[in-house]
Amino acid sequence: MSSEPQFSDQPGGFVGKPLVRVEGREKVTGKAKYAAEFALPGLTYGVLATSPIAKGKIQSIDTTAAAKELGVIAVLTHQNLPKLAKTPDTPEGKKDTNAPMGFMPLTSDEIFYAAQPVALVVADTLEHATHAATLVKVTYAPQKPIADFHDPKAELFDPEKVQDGKQKGHTKRGEPQAAFASSPIQLTATYTHPVYNHNPMEPGSTTAHWEAADRLTVYESTQGVTRTQSTLSAMTGLPREQVRVITKYLGGGFGCKGSTWPHTVLTVQAAKAVGRPVKLMLTRPQMFTSMGHREDQSQVMKLGASADGKITSLIHTKQSTTSPWDNYAEPNSKIVDLLYASPSFESSYELARANVMTSTFMRAPGEAPGSFAIECSMDDLAARLGVDPIEIRLRNYADHDYGTGQQWSSKSLKQCYTRGAELFGWSKRNPKAGATRDGRYFVGMGMASASYPVHNSQGTARARLYADGHAVVQAGATDLGTGTYTVMTQVAADSLGLPIEKVRFELGDTQLPTAPNSGGSVAAGTVSSSIFLACQDVWQKLIKAAVIDKKSPLYRAKPEDVTVEKGRLFLKKDPKKGEAFGELMKRGEITDIEGMAQGKYGSGYEDAAAAKNADPTQKDQAGHHSMHSFGAHFCEVRVDMDLGTIRVSKWVSVIGAGRILNAQTARSQIIGGAIFGIGSALMEETVRDPHYSRYTNADLASYHVPVNADIPNMTVEFVEEHDPYINAMGVKGIGEIAMVGVAAAVANAVYHATGKRLRDLPLTPDKVL
Ligand code: MOS
Repeated sequence: MSSEPQFSDQPGGFVGKPLVRVEGREKVTGKAKYAAEFALPGLTYGVLATSPIAKGKIQSIDTTAAAKELGVIAVLTHQNLPKLAKTPDTPEGKKDTNAPMGFMPLTSDEIFYAAQPVALVVADTLEHATHAATLVKVTYAPQKPIADFHDPKAELFDPEKVQDGKQKGHTKRGEPQAAFASSPIQLTATYTHPVYNHNPMEPGSTTAHWEAADRLTVYESTQGVTRTQSTLSAMTGLPREQVRVITKYLGGGFGCKGSTWPHTVLTVQAAKAVGRPVKLMLTRPQMFTSMGHREDQSQVMKLGASADGKITSLIHTKQSTTSPWDNYAEPNSKIVDLLYASPSFESSYELARANVMTSTFMRAPGEAPGSFAIECSMDDLAARLGVDPIEIRLRNYADHDYGTGQQWSSKSLKQCYTRGAELFGWSKRNPKAGATRDGRYFVGMGMASASYPVHNSQGTARARLYADGHAVVQAGATDLGTGTYTVMTQVAADSLGLPIEKVRFELGDTQLPTAPNSGGSVAAGTVSSSIFLACQDVWQKLIKAAVIDKKSPLYRAKPEDVTVEKGRLFLKKDPKKGEAFGELMKRGEITDIEGMAQGKYGSGYEDAAAAKNADPTQKDQAGHHSMHSFGAHFCEVRVDMDLGTIRVSKWVSVIGAGRILNAQTARSQIIGGAIFGIGSALMEETVRDPHYSRYTNADLASYHVPVNADIPNMTVEFVEEHDPYINAMGVKGIGEIAMVGVAAAVANAVYHATGKRLRDLPLTPDKVL
């Protein structure tokens, strides 16, 4: 393990600085091309026709009228769409295709969920295709659907028992039931939330181009070009190298672009059928049913404690809705297990099949809802004992990971509490709930802890340094819009000792070195480490060139005695002896030199061998340390008890997440994540009709997200933290921790304001009154 790189803080040291986005100008001038903006010759437009029923069979499809419409090139249904090499409806097919759904629309006459695609119309313009899609006549034999796990006909099951008879998702430490029963304080509460949808600004979109019968290029709005490539390769039967996926810019994703969904595969097949490139962009309503969602769920949190507020037992159970084919369930219990020092713990979960689209990961999957349960329960415990909420957390501070028994790689949670309280003015909080008024408003202050894991991941990067002093650095990563282009340019510039404007960082193409999905908060740490190491590889090659160059001041030096700083190679013991890389390269007529490296992230970095051999589901624990970021959120609300409205009037987040690569993009990311969490706390809700299992508010007019007027000025700070165990750059990643604990901080503030404990999200006025 190498030690964390030390970048200079002198002018020319870019890492950590609030550099503005390097691709900002491209974006605001419209030059940045998103997946649906590639005007290929002969481009056609695809539009989906979808099912109004949630369960049943297609009896007949009449495409005659649609096919006769102006500009229509093809009307594709399950009867004429080209067959796929592999579909995800068998266990092997699901594994090979890495598809989120165990089913592909347009492969049979069966309807499993409302708004399932039943036809894809291809036409010369979007308008022609949109109109023709309304003319596809389908008759159905409907059956009564099941809408969710509350349905009396829904059968709850334990997916892991069903799969292999074991209960590996079910954790048990100590004797939690007995400990709970004998605890002087016993808290039991149920927490629920509805379906949430990701709703990135850029809807899911695909432009598929078969450049030859055996060569496919896809411009795709995806969080991972490599994963999309492997899915499309399995489904089309083309070797991976004959499938190219390009994602230069992404308008958000939040997890829904972490997998390859049916509309992408259908577009690829449509392009094959018509022999021309096809572009398909989901409509906003289709976004609610095409790329997964956070599943509606109910959690029961039992917390046993001693009379002085020390946790004795935590018991967590969860029930949620899944689709007819898949067993996805957010892993809520992990964060419940790791935040506090509980001697006993138990968790289990159940699913029920319903006629719904498959749920999927959504920003902080598991941690976001799990933290709502544990962090509200901690607030209840504090209130029960009349102890300050921060004090109750300190009494139960986990000095190591009780779940795994491992030491933390680093943990700055205490600093986050202290600094957050200071910035927020926590000391002014009246300990009594419902006792603070500001005119007609009830004022409340709440807080919550946050944490997110450093997952096991890896990726590669290439750096090419030119003698004239510029460089091109590449990794097949994606930039969700959060700043990957910018921070990687900073890392490369510092690693090569070049000014920012001399470095070009390229991403979003399967022809570039493989990088992981931008998901699970792994991208910043993995890609920055692979770039840093690729640049080190450049220097090692140049040092080798110098020591055999008779004209170099470093001639015949031992390579290990030579080091590099800001582009100058010199002897460690005699820094005056050396030269700039440009001189060396020009003299040797080395126009450019390439470095390549693999960066590891998480346990695979600390102990690559252990991670390699570990059970795939346990790889995060294969190192010696438990690796997580930590943080604390502080929220002030003003509640109008006549109208039931809640306004967030103050917000502070303090986060310890290792090295911060860019002060500005990082702050923006935490602000964005916290707003995302405030949305889930106060307004977001996808409403499923219990009779028809259809969404009643699948648009942004009735699915409410926070706007500027809903959000106060927010304060974000990062605790300086150095973690040598997690990756070469010491970066933990901040994509998801920002929203963990946010809903609890809001609900805790509402409790403090009103004395009313609300546990059913979102906290809409009807629940407040
Ligand atoms: Mo994120 S939910 O890991 O894409």
